[in-house]
Amino acid sequence: MPHVIPYQGSKRLLAPAILSVLREQLAGQRVRRLYEPFAGSAALTLAAAHANLADDFVLADSYAPLVALWQQIIDAPQSLADAYRQEWQGGDYDAVRLAFHRDPTPPRLLYLLTRCVKAAVRFNRQGQFNQAADKRRRGTQPDRVMQLTHAASALLRGRTLLRAGDALTTTADAGPGDVAYLDPPWHGTTVGRDIRYHAGYRHGELLALIEALHARRVRVLLSYDGKRGGHDFAQPLPDSLVRLDLPAMRSAQATLLGRVEWTTESLYVTRQ
Ligand SMILES: C[S@@+](CC[C@H](N)C(=O)[O-])C[C@H]1O[C@@H](n2cnc3c(N)ncnc32)[C@H](O)[C@@H]1O
Repeated sequence: MPHVIPYQGSKRLLAPAILSVLREQLAGQRVRRLYEPFAGSAALTLAAAHANLADDFVLADSYAPLVALWQQIIDAPQSLADAYRQEWQGGDYDAVRLAFHRDPTPPRLLYLLTRCVKAAVRFNRQGQFNQAADKRRRGTQPDRVMQLTHAASALLRGRTLLRAGDALTTTADAGPGDVAYLDPPWHGTTVGRDIRYHAGYRHGELLALIEALHARRVRVLLSYDGKRGGHDFAQPLPDSLVRLDLPAMRSAQATLLGRVEWTTESLYVTRQ
């Protein structure tokens, strides 16, 4: 799978398990349009496009520079890869980050993501990307990036709409026959001190989104964890969703901190 964008919280490893749940639910039907309104690195959309499960796709995220990066990956994979190569050859992470604050171009964002600590997007109070460089990483090799951008473009071009904005707005035209895969920032990152994503997401907003989608008969798949290290972070969800536990996996977050923890990721799906 062409995972162009390294992204903390990516569903890269879970995507096959999520897709097999979706296949079971569909029982042979095709998805008209698959919405991924919290796209990040778009792991599920890439996997679903590869499996040719849907006619077309909507990729959306509230972080506009990320959506602009997806637009270039799909529409201009070669010029993106060329511009990335220049940033990579320059190798000056701090200069690229400063330039990104002035002008948040797609190649700059891609370079920052391939080199920053834990591939994790972090912002300061002004909403500026402020994650530091991981001194051990040089960033993905430009030739590899070129392969990945072309492969992702080939999968998504001509059948993907890109939207920047809040999930409620970017899914407003979804209807019967459509599926929305939701992977909002999880509760632990939205309240308290660790507000890591560009925008937090409150539980009430999530409930309103699920209600709006169900009112229009959109099938919902929601990744909402879950337990880690013995703590249960989950908040109550409506009865219109059924909880399934996906196979347990090593916590990537804990691994980065040098610990071994297992996470049980839950997937909530629309009750049939
Ligand atoms: C957990 S990450 C999604 C990771 C993704 N599933 C992947 O495979 O990489 C959550 C994403 O939601 C975005 N986001 C936060 N608040 C949002 C909102 N209100 N509407 C849409 N996207 C939002 C963040 O910018 C972030 O990219």
